[in-house]
Amino acid sequence: MSTAQRLLTDDLRQRIRAYFPRYPDRRAVVLPALHAVNEQLGWVPPQAVVEIAELLGLAPAEVQDTLSFYGVFKQDAPAGQVRVWVCRSLSCAARGGEELLEYLSQKLGIRPGQTTPDGRVTLEYAECLGACDFAPAALAGNLLLKNLTKEKIDQWIESLPSREDSMRKVEHGTTVE
Ligand code: FES
Repeated sequence: MSTAQRLLTDDLRQRIRAYFPRYPDRRAVVLPALHAVNEQLGWVPPQAVVEIAELLGLAPAEVQDTLSFYGVFKQDAPAGQVRVWVCRSLSCAARGGEELLEYLSQKLGIRPGQTTPDGRVTLEYAECLGACDFAPAALAGNLLLKNLTKEKIDQWIESLPSREDSMRKVEHGTTVE
């Protein structure tokens, strides 16, 4: 494969190679490699699976197995700038989690698994986030939204950077949460 056709940049390949001495074998590097690619590209397309496998000396099916196991990785399309997971497991469901997921879905105009047309938010549902004491809970990027209410959802949406602000931050080399 020529360099021009590659999806994984030299920097990204170098970042993945840096994991090699830290793990017992190349198979164990698959997960951190997938995280690195997902973080850089916003998703893990099939071409990236092939290139990760090539880099690690594994079969693409071995990389795909790990990829398919973890719901955190986007495989169908790039994720939005912020991914928000709304918990629908027992404690959260008992305290209105499903209703809040529906509310957020309507406010954003998308269904779980989809990304807003402006590319700012990807909505997901999650199984237990490990924050049952704060049910209903959601995770927006790295931000845990505790004891979620419709009012808190409204505030969170209002706090999102505009698309223009997001683009400016990306241009200046920072990521947006
Ligand atoms: S059930 Fe929702 S965080 Fe545990």
